[in-house]
Amino acid sequence: MGEPSAGARQALNRSGLASTNYELTPLSHSDRADLFAHLSDARTVEHMDIEPLADLAGADAVIAWATGLAASGDGIRWAIRDRAGAFAGTAGFNALVRERGSRGEVAYDVVRPRWRQGVMAEVLPLVLDHGFRALGLHRIEAMVTPGNAASAALLERHGFAREAVLRDYAFWKGRYWDQWLYARLTGDGG
Ligand SMILES: CC(C)(COP(=O)(O)OP(=O)(O)OC[C@H]1O[C@@H](n2cnc3c(N)ncnc32)[C@H](O)[C@@H]1OP(=O)(O)O)[C@@H](O)C(=O)NCCC(=O)NCCS
Repeated sequence: MGEPSAGARQALNRSGLASTNYELTPLSHSDRADLFAHLSDARTVEHMDIEPLADLAGADAVIAWATGLAASGDGIRWAIRDRAGAFAGTAGFNALVRERGSRGEVAYDVVRPRWRQGVMAEVLPLVLDHGFRALGLHRIEAMVTPGNAASAALLERHGFAREAVLRDYAFWKGRYWDQWLYARLTGDGG
């Protein structure tokens, strides 16, 4: 990956984002208990590339991964909290590419008791705006495991097109998985 520009580096390091009802701050050690409660839910991680977390050490590993992502300039992961401070999930970018392209992969997960209550409907536009404007991305991708109807519908509602089925693209939980490749370009409507 190419070196991020100074502006993009600044945007990555900027501490947080906010919408009407939610605040996004870089995932940190203080999120570990909430993150464990969230990602130890088997239904939440059903279509994700991780097993349900078994203990707090699992949450620490996710936080260490997120911290490393930000430190390397390869991405960012935020904790989403409502205005009362209650944890609602996470969102961010993986795999930022700036050499011979300008793209990143958006990723998100909402705590199960809040599914279908409009958390991502509010947060995803904020994250995309950050990607297109602050990070200067031209193309934002998302990888979805076939069968994850909620994620596919969310992306399609927000201007993403399903471009391909990537056969046996990923390996986790002991087997290969196809992935739906979604993408939205700068000029695409949302
Ligand atoms: C995918 C996920 C993030 C959606 O977040 P959410 O906050 O529940 O979504 P919202 O309530 O804001 O819904 C926004 C839109 O997403 C779509 N959507 C969300 N849940 C849906 C579901 N169960 N079935 C179909 N469409 C759904 C709809 O288009 C919806 O708009 P609408 O309610 O006006 O029809 C959430 O289901 C989740 O965290 N799942 C587990 C983790 C995961 O799979 N992450 C994605 C990995 S690619």
